[in-house]
Amino acid sequence: MADIAYQAATQHESKQHDSSDKITLVKARGSLVWDDRGREYIDCTAQAWSNNLGANDPRVIEAAMAQMREMTHIRPNFGSLAHTRLVAKLREISPASLNQMGFALHGSLAGEMAMKLAFKNRPQAQNLIVLQDGYHGRSLATLGASWPHPNNPFLAIQPRFTRVPHPYPYRTRMGMDPEAESQLCLGLLEDTIQKGVDGPVAAVMMEPIQGNGGHIEFPRSYYRGVREICDRLGVLLIFDEVQTGFGRMGTMWAAEYYDVVPDIIVFGKGIGGGFPLAGILADDRLKWFDEGEEALTFGHFPVSLAAGYATVEAIQADKLCERARDSGEYATARLRDMQEHRKLIGDVRCPGLMASIELVTDRTTKAPARREAQEVYRRGVERGVLFGESRYAGLGNLIKVKPPLDIERAQLARALDVLDEVLGEIEEGGQ
Ligand SMILES: Cc1ncc(COP(=O)(O)O)c(C=O)c1O
Repeated sequence: MADIAYQAATQHESKQHDSSDKITLVKARGSLVWDDRGREYIDCTAQAWSNNLGANDPRVIEAAMAQMREMTHIRPNFGSLAHTRLVAKLREISPASLNQMGFALHGSLAGEMAMKLAFKNRPQAQNLIVLQDGYHGRSLATLGASWPHPNNPFLAIQPRFTRVPHPYPYRTRMGMDPEAESQLCLGLLEDTIQKGVDGPVAAVMMEPIQGNGGHIEFPRSYYRGVREICDRLGVLLIFDEVQTGFGRMGTMWAAEYYDVVPDIIVFGKGIGGGFPLAGILADDRLKWFDEGEEALTFGHFPVSLAAGYATVEAIQADKLCERARDSGEYATARLRDMQEHRKLIGDVRCPGLMASIELVTDRTTKAPARREAQEVYRRGVERGVLFGESRYAGLGNLIKVKPPLDIERAQLARALDVLDEVLGEIEEGGQ
């Protein structure tokens, strides 16, 4: 990976777009959105991968409206029916011993809550370890836990964490076998915890799949290995499931998909059904916050909690985990088939409906095809499909297909037809 001008790529790409590029959206239903000119789009971004349940689901809207008619704001010092119901619902679906929970309105603040809880439970600790290319949000602490940002103006006031290398199966170091690279990265993690930092480590925090920073899934041995190292060295393991939670992987949690239970899960995005909601699930063994350590004015915003309850119920009732698996298998098969005849596609990565392709100008050198990825996005918009892209992260050469989990098959098929079409045009150099 050393030959890839990683930071230069992110720096370069981030200058490409400004607000004048923005499409103004006015309406959404299911997997469709409409702009202010009445143009319809199939939304393969699920609005920052948040609408796991299709947009504006009537069950969620009604639950939010019902709560709004009663009371819109309840300070967290008080109980609320919305809170009690959501806590009980989340306990139904949380991995075995993760029954303690806290809420926030943004994944970033939930990430900070997880960090705080880790340090509270490891009072001597000085360090938190994260993965290179990880993304945990844009609050000061989570920015520090994410990939390095070029020309970062906030460094002086931002906590800094220790970043360790992680496996990248499509671009292994020195052409290693992915399994060998997984073992190498586990060794480096263990060395870092023991010899690479001053003082004890509170936690390792990682996304099971790096959603924003390159859409990278690791070999299964890596997840098990990280858990084993954390257990052996007395370090907590935090999974940031803000993107992977609530069915996206074809299971309720990535923890379930990889059969590895962390000590804390950070969740967000998909739980809210389009309303702002995030939080953490923590193992019963962990000491919870004392009064005053974690209290946000709108932390128990009942409208979001009610919407969250209705969303999780709908995810269960509509069997969205199964639908994500089914649509994910369909998308994977279509993308692999496309890869046979579209040489721009270097790699296809698809657990559940978390699909992406990495575009390369040359399959041997794997040089990232950034310009082409932007062109796919642009031409997709022209044809009424919003693809996910990776302008600010990783190598800037990804196209993501992560629509609502209940997307209709015809809509998903149409989006993939458009992808094939525009890749063909770009390869032929056409307009
Ligand atoms: C894995 C992950 N963690 C945390 C966040 C931050 O969430 P929010 O933007 O709601 O603060 C994101 C957002 O993209 C994310 O993908």
